[in-house]
Amino acid sequence: MRFQVKPGGSITGRLRAPGDKSISHRTIMLGSIAEGITEATGFLEGQDALCTVNAFRAMGVTIDGPRDGQVRIQGVGLHGLKEPNETLDMGNSGTSIRLISGLLAAQSFDATMTGDASLTKRPMGRVITPLQQMGAVIDSHDERPPLTVRGGQSLKGIHYVMPMASAQVKSCVLLAGLYAEGRTSVIEPAPTRDHTERMLQGFGYAVDSENGVISLSGGGNLQGAQLDIPADISSAAFFLVAASISEGSDLILEHVGINPTRSGVITILTLMGADIEIMNERTVGGEPVADLSVRSAKLKGIEIPEELVPLAIDEFPVLFIAAACADGETVLSGAEELRVKESDRIASMAEGLTRLGIANEVMPDGIRIQGGRMTGGEIDTYHDHRIAMSFSIAALRANGDIIVNDCDHVATSFPNFASLSKGIGLRITEAL
Ligand code: S3P
Repeated sequence: MRFQVKPGGSITGRLRAPGDKSISHRTIMLGSIAEGITEATGFLEGQDALCTVNAFRAMGVTIDGPRDGQVRIQGVGLHGLKEPNETLDMGNSGTSIRLISGLLAAQSFDATMTGDASLTKRPMGRVITPLQQMGAVIDSHDERPPLTVRGGQSLKGIHYVMPMASAQVKSCVLLAGLYAEGRTSVIEPAPTRDHTERMLQGFGYAVDSENGVISLSGGGNLQGAQLDIPADISSAAFFLVAASISEGSDLILEHVGINPTRSGVITILTLMGADIEIMNERTVGGEPVADLSVRSAKLKGIEIPEELVPLAIDEFPVLFIAAACADGETVLSGAEELRVKESDRIASMAEGLTRLGIANEVMPDGIRIQGGRMTGGEIDTYHDHRIAMSFSIAALRANGDIIVNDCDHVATSFPNFASLSKGIGLRITEAL
């Protein structure tokens, strides 16, 4: 499937982006190992979250839904998971394979996890190393999937200094720590999304977090919980940029999660001159939520402060489109993690920007982008959902059609992207 997007248009109206992907994964994981029932609304019915649902079903957990964003999980308790009969297919989902590794490390049974062409190329050494230090036994293909996690090990708590700012690694170690003897702590080099810590507490499990050290003791219990999952700021980000770059735009994004470990995209766009208003701030299920109002604005190029990089890590593809539409140069550095996402996002974005006539210079840990006039063109997405959606948005400011090839992966995080975007003014059609 590909997107064909006609140039121009403006973005008006209001919409609610789909549920938060990170929180949806964790809802299934924590709900499965909790005691009692967990119910959630606003659940993301994207393929990535469904991979997590299927994995826990294969390990004996009864999960009703998701249907209309509602899901109900009958928790089996920390020690109630069963040996799966089949290899667990994590599809495109790095969050599934890395976080579930932490849980599997402590089970009594062996389990194997694999994934698609993108996932099987992604680095898993970052979770294998700390889990081995805890006593786990994991077979891999040169630190890439498939991973076989051997059961029957007893884990001990560790004090792990993470070499990179990664919420997936932090969460994996903390989940293994639930089963470990003694205390497990993780030290992060920079703050990363803290949903695991917040949600563990919401499920009644004590977690300490102070000055970048997150720790818990093994041996407790989780209790089922009720959750209302906010809209994913990473999906809302496409429309923050869309409305900012197109003239005559005025959009309201409803019920967006604005957790400070996720809201770097708002800070960066505001530094670039965007007109974003945060309205009706409230706390829903332990997570800050707001409605965002965004209007067209004249953007300017900036040097992106490095401390904002982990707080906007998934939003850089669409921020690069904002940079292409800004006056002057935007410089990103300290973002080498972008090279190991669903695609090498520095390389895939640079290639697409060049195709649309936008001058850029690739660096090992970032990119320089010169704002300018965008032409139409044909884009390769490298099986990466966020590359596909970013270049669709670019059409608002291009002077010809943009054809975005290979868009099936958009369904991993945002299944109704094309119809929702069309409803607010993007001239997008799906084609085979
Ligand atoms: C995620 C963490 C981030 C992010 C990913 C989701 C999570 O990955 O890019 O989309 O849910 O914990 P890293 O931990 O690799 O930075």
